[in-house]
Amino acid sequence: MIHIPEHVQNLIPYKAGKPIEELSRERGITQIVKLASNENPLGPSPKAVEAIRNNLLKLHRYTDPSAYTLVNAIAGKLKKRPGQIVTCSGSDSLLQYIITAFSIENDEIITSEGTFSGWYVNANKYGRKSHYVPLKNYHLNLDAIADTINSKTRIIYLANPNNPTGTMFTKHEFEIFMSRIPDYVLVVLDEAYTIYAQSYPGYIDGLNYDLENLIVLRTLSKTYGLAGLRIGFAVAQEYLITELYKVKLPFEPNYLAHVAAIAALDDEEFLHKTVHLNDLSLKRMKSRFDELGIEYVPTYANFYLLLLPSENFVNEFNNECLNRGLILRPVNTIGIKNGIRINSGTKDETEFAMDIIGKVYSSLMEKYNAGIEL
Ligand SMILES: Cc1ncc(COP(=O)(O)O)c(C=O)c1O
Repeated sequence: MIHIPEHVQNLIPYKAGKPIEELSRERGITQIVKLASNENPLGPSPKAVEAIRNNLLKLHRYTDPSAYTLVNAIAGKLKKRPGQIVTCSGSDSLLQYIITAFSIENDEIITSEGTFSGWYVNANKYGRKSHYVPLKNYHLNLDAIADTINSKTRIIYLANPNNPTGTMFTKHEFEIFMSRIPDYVLVVLDEAYTIYAQSYPGYIDGLNYDLENLIVLRTLSKTYGLAGLRIGFAVAQEYLITELYKVKLPFEPNYLAHVAAIAALDDEEFLHKTVHLNDLSLKRMKSRFDELGIEYVPTYANFYLLLLPSENFVNEFNNECLNRGLILRPVNTIGIKNGIRINSGTKDETEFAMDIIGKVYSSLMEKYNAGIEL
């Protein structure tokens, strides 16, 4: 028998939102709405789809490992130098490269409880000791995170806005935090939901900082609608990006992701529609949750975190929603035991979801109020 290292045996694999096909297979349901993975309800950027169609016959070629055209397109768009950018198969992929490039065994990592589970999976995969700082009223507790730093700390991971809480910290809070970070500690600022948050006063855009110990992550999975293609990128000072190139797989992201991303980055109309639809859907959800008396965390992203009376209530609620064809995302696995997340949808998807949530929540609350254990 092959020996499996203990930290690998103990790993808990990443738990994604349930795929539509799986629910259909499991429960024989045909009408299904998935609002579980913070995807773009409008589908992919049309410009990206067109670029993919136009480049299908180039699939026999390897991609350019320097991603020259793509990196230059991103640099031009963000007003950065090309040497400050590296692209990978989603920002999830970048997380593992950051841990590989900037930490070794016995180094320590700090992050929050109740943040992006992809970070936990990657940190554990490499057997790094992680400190998980509790959330403060569903916000990342930047003060407590800074207080946790010791001489072994190498990396701090922050998602802003945070997934799954949807909360954000402000420019002012970030600057105070960074003033407390020693220069041997790398701060990873994951801005997967940046475009949804940019219009809020006080929002901190990590790209406005050029610090020696900061890496900003962006993805095309959310607002650009390219989650299935796998493309994200990191922006940092050149000396950090150079190291990431050494550890990354040379041919990721794939060729179609390159051409699609270049086209999507220019698809302003699609971005605009995406943000507009998100606003409408979240507004509708908020008013329905208020009517029903469902507690939720105010959001700066494309989803709401609902807070139900108990973990059992979440399990029942989720199961009943699944039975009716609605896929949501319970978040008990990352420490928010009574939380379940729902992302924005099209008008029809939103109405479908609000109808089911209304029925399921009301009937479970009746039982709950009658003292039936949930
Ligand atoms: C905070 C955060 N970072 C990264 C990701 C993953 O992005 P990608 O699809 O680029 O791997 C997600 C996806 O849910 C996320 O919420």
